[in-house]
Amino acid sequence: MAIAREADEKTLSLTLNGHEVQAAPGETVLQVARRNGVEIPTLCHDDRLEPYGACRLCLVEIEGARGAVPACATKVGAGMVVQTHSDKIRKLRKFVLELLLSNHPLDCPVCEAAGDCRLQDYAYEYEVNMSPWGWKPLDFPTRDDHPNVARNPNRCILCGRCVRICRDVMGIGCWGFTDRGYDTIIDTPYNLPLQDVGCVSCGQCISTCPVGALNHKRSRYAARHWQTEKTKTICPYCGVGCELTVHTAREKLVRVTAQVGSGVNNGNLCVKGRFGMDFVNSEERLRTPLVRDEEGNLVPTTWEVALDRIEQNFKRIKAESGGKAFATLASAKCTNEENYLLQKFTRAVLGTNNIDHCARL
Ligand code: SF4
Ligand code: FES
Repeated sequence: MAIAREADEKTLSLTLNGHEVQAAPGETVLQVARRNGVEIPTLCHDDRLEPYGACRLCLVEIEGARGAVPACATKVGAGMVVQTHSDKIRKLRKFVLELLLSNHPLDCPVCEAAGDCRLQDYAYEYEVNMSPWGWKPLDFPTRDDHPNVARNPNRCILCGRCVRICRDVMGIGCWGFTDRGYDTIIDTPYNLPLQDVGCVSCGQCISTCPVGALNHKRSRYAARHWQTEKTKTICPYCGVGCELTVHTAREKLVRVTAQVGSGVNNGNLCVKGRFGMDFVNSEERLRTPLVRDEEGNLVPTTWEVALDRIEQNFKRIKAESGGKAFATLASAKCTNEENYLLQKFTRAVLGTNNIDHCARL
């Protein structure tokens, strides 16, 4: 009996689009809707951030409430009756999208976000046939002062996600809203170069931007979103083990992203994980083993020849000087299993305990 009461206290019932659903106290209407397969459009929402209620695209009807309310910022209550896609709500969302498009550049053919842009998707879904008030695209100067982050304030919809993720998740605060009214843009303090205001190049702002205002500078024009193959993998840089989505096209690595709600990193990455994979495409990568010829020049060879040379040299050195002549340095770029094998080889085969790991330094 006591257990049943406890379970009751942890759930409440509400009606969502005519169906009774269960929710936990404290959940938002958006969370409950998504859990039940009802997709409510959002622009300013990111699961990594506190609800903000800026874009008003997630408006829903709640019986007894005055006007429509934002699903992202409204907590569920017992007995609530919610409509997420009534005619009235669809009209309101279309109105919001028309307002956004009234000054949004329609440069989708050259926008990096095309195919991966929430505004584009929702404008299509809600059949927005351009703004009834005419079209006056923004005309702010673009800035190109960062090696990784491409900025185009004219595409910004002022959702504030970049500002909040930099401040609330990264604890830095490079971005803020500057100026007022139609002149409002997202910018750095005193309009300083991004790198001069504490930016650590994590690219979190890019990861959360729902449109093409912030994007990967070094992969511009490399491949459209729908042209890349997406492969989930683990970052090779350190032991945290962040999950990456590697985008490849025409046998080249194009960009790296991370999926919110997946992996230990929940969509977050550091500079190395997000921007540090260029080496994969480097023309300077070693593609075959190299051995020194008699003049000391490195020349390409086969694995058989290289491994044979190593074996002969190891045997010779060990016979001449003993195991103490060797030392090995393990790498954080290798897996635990590879590092285990290295120490085993060092101790059991080379005969020395001279082994260290770069992460210990
Ligand atoms: Fe939102 Fe992108 Fe504009 Fe930042 S730059 S406010 S994330 S649209
Ligand atoms: Fe709810 Fe923007 S997603 S107001």
